[in-house]
Amino acid sequence: MMEKADEIAELMTSEMGKPLVESKGEVQYAASFIKWYAEEGKRVYGRTIPAHVDNKRMLVTKQPIGVVGAITPWNFPAAMITRKLGPALAAGCTFIVKPPNQTPLTAIMLIELCEQAGIPKGVVNLVSGNSSEIGEELLTNSHVSKITFTGSTEVGRELIKEGASQVMKMSMELGGHAPIIVMDDADVEKAVNGILASKFRNGVQTCICGNRIYVQEGIHDEFVEKFAAAASSLKVGNGLDEGINIGPIIDKAGYEKIDSHVQNAVSKGAKVVLGGYGKAENHTYFYEPTILTDVHPDMVIMHEETFGPVAPIQKVKTEEEAIEFANQTEYGLAAYVFTENYSRGIRIAERLNYGIVGWNDGVPSAAQVPFGGMKQSGIGREGGSEGLEAYLETKYISIGL
Ligand code: SIN
Repeated sequence: MMEKADEIAELMTSEMGKPLVESKGEVQYAASFIKWYAEEGKRVYGRTIPAHVDNKRMLVTKQPIGVVGAITPWNFPAAMITRKLGPALAAGCTFIVKPPNQTPLTAIMLIELCEQAGIPKGVVNLVSGNSSEIGEELLTNSHVSKITFTGSTEVGRELIKEGASQVMKMSMELGGHAPIIVMDDADVEKAVNGILASKFRNGVQTCICGNRIYVQEGIHDEFVEKFAAAASSLKVGNGLDEGINIGPIIDKAGYEKIDSHVQNAVSKGAKVVLGGYGKAENHTYFYEPTILTDVHPDMVIMHEETFGPVAPIQKVKTEEEAIEFANQTEYGLAAYVFTENYSRGIRIAERLNYGIVGWNDGVPSAAQVPFGGMKQSGIGREGGSEGLEAYLETKYISIGL
């Protein structure tokens, strides 16, 4: 992957539009899962347990779970495959990936690289085409032991229902609606940079990106001014062009959703500080970086995932109020807090009902840490040692002497 990084990145940008620099970053990120799990595979340990009687020995061993069916999303066409493939291979599983119909080519290239790297035929497989037909086969075929899915909560729920017939093992990385809390004692520069990275990363289409920002009143105006100044320098355009920060939105439906969230907020009293509009060029849809203030919880944007470059900012009075608003959602994937106060940071991080908390950090993901959500954001974790455990069965062997 690293040898072919430029080629993979160009293909990825051509397929889904994210800026080339982001695609290059994704190739590194994607390869890091293969590299890290190649090491971590050495640490699949069992254990011996002291028996309660003299004439027994008790062992716990780990075995590969079996054939894995992976259904992956278009927003990270390479990394969301390798975050599943790395631990599956390290555990000793075989793997069938169903890539999204928007980005099958990056996936095909990765599978070709698996072949070139010497992975035996049949260990890593790809099936592309009709999503519901392939999904149904993976979920009902008795040779498949596990389904791992990254995508929307809505689709995840359907897969869980369908897999129930054969009690399919499942890992689900589902939707999110990440809150970002900026307290009066935050370092404003750090908060602006962290939130820019979180919000506008990956062509603005990331499950863990900040969706709604709660800023304490003492710092609100300064934050909005500096954040708007920084966001206004972001360039929107063809992801293959030099200097572009935000590429096109994946499709017309994605664009219309973003615009409807902005229009809904404006109709309910939000003030547009930056952007607030998009444009269509030859069936390609772009949206300007947009900042809204004077937002409130009744607006759709404050509870539905926008998947676009829109940052709604709500003023809050206290830490308590910020935490309460932040937790008011069925999702629990990622949350962020910006504060320089150590006690407050710990307090807020512990009370946020989310699987991932970035404290003064807008991009917390890495191969060696667990990624996944609480509540309706999913089941299980990917990444880290937890991500390997997800592809292992635990077997207890009781030996009578
Ligand atoms: C995602 O958007 O699902 C993945 C984001 C990440 O790995 O940081």
